[in-house]
Amino acid sequence: MRVLGIESSCDETGIALYDSEQGLLAHSLYSQVDMHANYGGVVPELASRDHIRKAIPLIKQVFSDAQCDEQTLDGIAYTSGPGLAGALLVGACLARSLAWTWQLPALGVHHMEGHLLAPLLEDPAPEFPFVALLVSGGHTQLVDVKGIGQYTVLGESIDDAAGEAFDKTAKMMNLPYPGGPHIAKLAQQGTEGRFKFPRPMTDRPGLDFSFSGLKTFARNTIIKCQQDRDGHKYVEQQDQADIARAFEQAVVDTLVIKCRRALEQTGHKRLVIAGGVSANHYLRERLHDLMNKKRGQVYYPRPEFCTDNGAMIAYAGCQRLMAGQKDGDEIRVFPRWPMDTLEAV
Ligand code: KG4
Ligand code: ZN
Repeated sequence: MRVLGIESSCDETGIALYDSEQGLLAHSLYSQVDMHANYGGVVPELASRDHIRKAIPLIKQVFSDAQCDEQTLDGIAYTSGPGLAGALLVGACLARSLAWTWQLPALGVHHMEGHLLAPLLEDPAPEFPFVALLVSGGHTQLVDVKGIGQYTVLGESIDDAAGEAFDKTAKMMNLPYPGGPHIAKLAQQGTEGRFKFPRPMTDRPGLDFSFSGLKTFARNTIIKCQQDRDGHKYVEQQDQADIARAFEQAVVDTLVIKCRRALEQTGHKRLVIAGGVSANHYLRERLHDLMNKKRGQVYYPRPEFCTDNGAMIAYAGCQRLMAGQKDGDEIRVFPRWPMDTLEAV
């Protein structure tokens, strides 16, 4: 089965062609990051308008890259939630219009299921069951994955997502949006052990996360380091790097502690990490160490499939379309959509 995938839930337009026999045929991505950077975060209306501009040219590009056309397609998958309502509607309306014109089945895919299954595009792909740590700008979740659509959420953030905490802390240090990669880069120059940030919610049982306190801790540390030059407050580059390092260590430590608990609780030997923050090198390194100690294996997508992309949606949609699932007549999007309500395949 050959599926066209369309991702438009936030600030990236991602398009891909996935074939169940031949694998990923082509993918392309347009990131709106530069446009939103001027505003320090995603502006929903601008995001929707830009998806309209970019989606069709990118679809033409993937057909050209894969040297095929719509006549070879068996279905269309698109992100129908969770995400920004307007941005989701652009992808949904386009996917459903194309499916209607080309007389193909269409299916709305859960964005986080896309992230969760993205490591299955790699070789070797993880086998089920596994624990998945989903860490993006909007979500931080630990999931017990027994198969496609068989998800039990073991824990999640009760306030900010890990990526959101990275972005907000970066903003306080006047770093560009999205801040995660900038904090990670700065942290490399940071002094080990100069600041010690808390590891929230690790002193009690359970698998939920809370990252908003870390952000406040970062703000207070920044204020303590502020110096005055001609009436302007500033923080020395080295102080910034030391704060970035302490912050990154606290987030990563917290994630590692909870992953270890989730593995002990489920007895699984495989750990999958996905979502934008899974691109973080220090997190990967620490999870490798954890899984080496546990004689297990950690899996993650290639860097460009950690953040939002069309390939993960084409892949997830293909698995479900092959199982005979498809949309009904109405076009719907789900800005909020709990993952454990999904149908099993
Ligand atoms: O999955 P994603 O592309 O979008 C959402 O679905 O939210 O994740 C974006 C998030 C942003 O918060 C960004 O700062 C973070 O992933 N991120 C990182 C790194 N690369 C991206 N955070 C920490 N370290 C990184 N290297
Ligand atoms: Zn995402």
